[in-house]
Amino acid sequence: MTCDAARRLLASCGQEHVLKYWGSLDSVGRKALLKQVSAISAGDTLRCMKALSTKGASAVSTAGGRAPKVAVPTKALKAKWTAAGERELRAGRVAALLVAGGQGSRLGYDGPKGAYPIGPVTGRPLFWYHARKILAKKLQYGKSVPWYVMTSEANDADTKRCFRENGYFGLDRRDVVFFTQGMWPCMDEEGRMLLKSKGEIATSPDGHGGVLAALSRSGALADMKRRGIRHVFFFQVDNPLVNIADPAFIGFHLLEKSEYSLKLCAKTDPFEKVGVPMAFGKTWRMVEYSEMTKEDALRKAKDGRLYHLYGSPAIHVFDRAFLEREAREDMPLHLAFKKIPCIGKDGKSVKPDSPNGYKFEKFIFDLMPKARKCAFLAFDKADEFSPLKNATGDDSQETCRRDMMAKWRRALVRAGVEMRDDAVFEVDEALFGPISGE
Ligand code: UD1
Repeated sequence: MTCDAARRLLASCGQEHVLKYWGSLDSVGRKALLKQVSAISAGDTLRCMKALSTKGASAVSTAGGRAPKVAVPTKALKAKWTAAGERELRAGRVAALLVAGGQGSRLGYDGPKGAYPIGPVTGRPLFWYHARKILAKKLQYGKSVPWYVMTSEANDADTKRCFRENGYFGLDRRDVVFFTQGMWPCMDEEGRMLLKSKGEIATSPDGHGGVLAALSRSGALADMKRRGIRHVFFFQVDNPLVNIADPAFIGFHLLEKSEYSLKLCAKTDPFEKVGVPMAFGKTWRMVEYSEMTKEDALRKAKDGRLYHLYGSPAIHVFDRAFLEREAREDMPLHLAFKKIPCIGKDGKSVKPDSPNGYKFEKFIFDLMPKARKCAFLAFDKADEFSPLKNATGDDSQETCRRDMMAKWRRALVRAGVEMRDDAVFEVDEALFGPISGE
């Protein structure tokens, strides 16, 4: 891209100031800036500016949302779903999709969250536990579950290094497909892109909803189709308990003829930090814990339990064809008002003490209203959800390790192993076999 072309592109979306310091950049700096500008879409930029003026998708009221009808597994139902899901796994029609592009700033860990040494004995990284579950499925069903891993610019190289250094955790590397999510420019309150330095626009990852565009752009979606994938099991990097490619969940999705299925777990605290799916008229929406009113959080059903009992651990199954259809559409933008280091109007670097600009994100669950059918399945939190979010306290490495060992202990005891109460141990699912709840 030439400087003139960059100027025209920026002018078409009111961002000419991005080249304000062009004269002070050396040739390397100019080249890098032109590369960044060439990746900008004027249409997307205008959409961000519009979202800013209307405060994006985050300005909708949550009052009056109805709770979903959630399927609660009985032994018979679970057996039926499992048989159906196992058929899909044996036919090689299931893929795993991990979103691991987040910055994990709450955890305060300097590296990809998936590289966090979570193993209670070995200090193995989170990725290891995910990978060994995927390998366990291949060993059990005789067909690979290809693993699509979304990284971001900030952690792509470190993520790949972690896989390489660990020999892909025993997986066939042809079954691991990395792709990188997009970045959106950050903007000030007037919708002007912020500059990180005189030659660089401040950007941030476009959210886990960016996975659709990234799957499509990278060719990963086409790769899924080539491999004959029909069901895509989606999960987040921070949950070491997730039962990846769970046959019961896949079978449930299939037999319900759903396009987008969600696992949900009963909250143990009305203010638990999970999203809550609600219906507004005929439209589904995930209401984030931060958006939930106190009345909604505490509302009781007739049976005395919480009306909005079920929260989302972000474990989903999608039809691959549904993702393909939606990858062609725009997703809503959510705004986050943040402290963003930038070049101030006087040309000096600013490290703000309070929020000064907006980051734009897309959320995967905004696909809910687009699905011809959504289905919801309850599961036991102790078996499948213990996220690593914070450095200490709730949802920290301490609670994750405790919950990992408790889950393994139940599986070992079921298998007839006698356990000491104070045992500190690990289980490798690739050797032991896939572990799900009872
Ligand atoms: C998220 C969900 C919440 C759910 C909870 C379960 C949102 C807004 N909320 O909360 O509904 O109940 O998890 O743990 O998502 N990621 C990317 N790219 C990005 C941003 C995030 O890949 O640009 C990935 C992260 O690596 C992580 C996942 O998305 O795997 C979740 O991100 P995080 O910021 O931790 O979400 P939460 O706010 O904790």
